[in-house]
Amino acid sequence: MTTNQDRIIIFDTTLRDGEQSPGAALNIDEKLTIARQLSRLGVDVIEAGFPYSSPGDFEAVQKIAETVGVEGGPTICGLARTTRADIEAAGKALKPAAKARIHTFIATSDIHLAYKLKKTRAEVLAIAPEMVAYAKTFVDDVEFSPEDAGRSDPEFLYQVLEAAIAAGATTINIPDTVGYTTPAEFGALIRGIKENVPNIDQAIISVHGHNDLGLAVANFLEAVKNGARQLECTINGIGERAGNAALEELVMALHVRRQYFNPFFGRPPESEAPLTNIDTRQIYKTSRLVSNFTGMFVQPNKAIVGANAFAHESGIHQDGVLKNKLTYEIMDAQLIGLTDNQIVLGKLSGRHAFQTRLKELGFDISDEEVNKAFLKFKDLADKKKEITDWDLESIVNSEIQQPPELFRLELVQVSCGDRSRPTATVSIRTPSGEELTDAAIGTGPVDAVYRAINRVVNVPNDLIEFSVQSVTAGIDAIGEVTIRLRHEGRVYSGHAANTDIIVASAEAYMNALNRLYAALQSNAERLNSQSDRVSEVVAGS
Ligand code: KIV
Ligand code: ZN
Repeated sequence: MTTNQDRIIIFDTTLRDGEQSPGAALNIDEKLTIARQLSRLGVDVIEAGFPYSSPGDFEAVQKIAETVGVEGGPTICGLARTTRADIEAAGKALKPAAKARIHTFIATSDIHLAYKLKKTRAEVLAIAPEMVAYAKTFVDDVEFSPEDAGRSDPEFLYQVLEAAIAAGATTINIPDTVGYTTPAEFGALIRGIKENVPNIDQAIISVHGHNDLGLAVANFLEAVKNGARQLECTINGIGERAGNAALEELVMALHVRRQYFNPFFGRPPESEAPLTNIDTRQIYKTSRLVSNFTGMFVQPNKAIVGANAFAHESGIHQDGVLKNKLTYEIMDAQLIGLTDNQIVLGKLSGRHAFQTRLKELGFDISDEEVNKAFLKFKDLADKKKEITDWDLESIVNSEIQQPPELFRLELVQVSCGDRSRPTATVSIRTPSGEELTDAAIGTGPVDAVYRAINRVVNVPNDLIEFSVQSVTAGIDAIGEVTIRLRHEGRVYSGHAANTDIIVASAEAYMNALNRLYAALQSNAERLNSQSDRVSEVVAGS
C-alpha cells in the first residue's frame, strides 16, 4: 500500500471531471496528447475517464493505460460508480497500465440518498465496502469517494470510510461536490476524519472540490494542513459548473509558500525539498494545451497562467520591478515555463535551429510533426520579422495537435470594407477528394466566410462562441481564434492561429467542423456495427 505521506500526491482529473465542463469534449487523440503532457508535468495519478460511461471513454482510458501508464509513468485511474458493471469496465480498461487504480464512489449526503439514490444510510453502508472489495479483485489500488461528503453527516461519513478502508480502499477521497464548504469547515472535516476513523492510518486522505464559491483551492490548502495528502485537481481549474481546484494554483501555492507549509509535513520551515513531484516549468505549456484543445479560454487575470499574471501595468509597479523584481513579484515567470519571450528565430533560421528550439521549449514531437510545423514556421517568417517562443508554441499547438482533416480548406478570399458587402469565396476539399468552391455574403467578413463554408460542408450547427486573441504584441502578431459550435446538444471546439485573422477564423471553423464530422462518422459506424451484430444474432437464432 502507498502511504506516501511526506509529500503531496497530485491526482489530475482534467480528462475526467475537467472534461465534464460544458463544451470541453475531447477526442481520443487529444486525450492521449494531454495525458502525455500530464506525465511530463509529473502528476502522480491521471484520472483518464469513466470507462463505463461510453465506448469512447473506455477506449481513451485503455489507450492512455497502454501508452502513458508504462513502467515509471503515472498511475492511471478510471472512475466507476459502486456497481459491478462500472467496476468491471474500469478494471478491463485499466488492464494495460503498469500502475492502475479504480476510483469508485457513492453519495453519502442525506439529500443525495433521498432524491438521487433513493437508498437508506444502511444500504449505502453495505454497498460501499462490497464494491471496494469487488474493485480489489481487479486492482490493488482502490480509491473510494463518498460523494457530497462536504454536506454529509460526519458521523455517518466516518462509518462509511471505516468500512471502505476495512474492505481494502487505499485512498479515501473527500469531495466537496457542490463547492459549498468554507476553508475552516473543510479543514475541520479532514481533522475529524483523522481523529474519528479508527483505521485511517491505512489509507491516504485525498480531497476533491468544486469552485462554486471560488474556495476550492483555499479549502484544499486547509485540508493539507489537517492531513490531506492527495489533491484532486484539473489544469486551468476546468470542470463541472465553476470548475475544480486548479492544479497550477495548488502546486505554486505549495511551492512559493513552502516555508509556511513545511511544518505540516514535519519538515523544518527552511527545507527546500519540493512538496510535490510536479515539474513546474511544464505548467504554462500544459495550460495552453488544455485550453486550446478544450476551447476553454483562460481568463487574463487567472492566477499563475493568465496572460496578465506576470504583467505589470502601473508605472509604480514597473518602476519597482525594474529596480528589484521582488518588489512586486512573488515568483519568477520562468518557474512555470514562461520564457523571457526573447526573439529566437527568423527568416533565415534552418530546420535544425527550429527543431532545437522546440526541444528546448520542451516539445517532444515526431519528425513528421516537426516537418509540418517547420513549413508553417517558414510561412510565418515570411510575414513576421521576429518569431518569438510564444509564436513557436502557437504554431505547434495549432498545426500539430489538430483533428483529422476530413474537409480541407484550400482557399479563402474575402472582400469587405465600408463601401462593399462582405463577400467570401472558399474552396474546400471534401473527404472524397473533390474540390468544391462556393461564395456567400455576410454581415461581416468572418460571417461571410462561415456562410460560404457552410454551403460546402453542409452540417447544421450553431456557432456559440467566437474569440480572437493576439499571441504577441505588435501589428504583425499572430491571432489565435477559438470557436465553439453546437450540434444536437454537443459542443465542438476549434482552434487556429495565423497572422491573418480571417484565415485563422476559417481554419478554426474547419477544425471544429472536422471534429463534428468525425463524431458523426464514428456514431454512424457504431450504429452500423450494432445493426450487423443484431443481424448476426437474428440469422443465428
Ligand atoms: O465532485 C465529485 O464528487 C466527484 C466524485 C466522482 C469524486 O467528481
Ligand atoms: Zn467532481
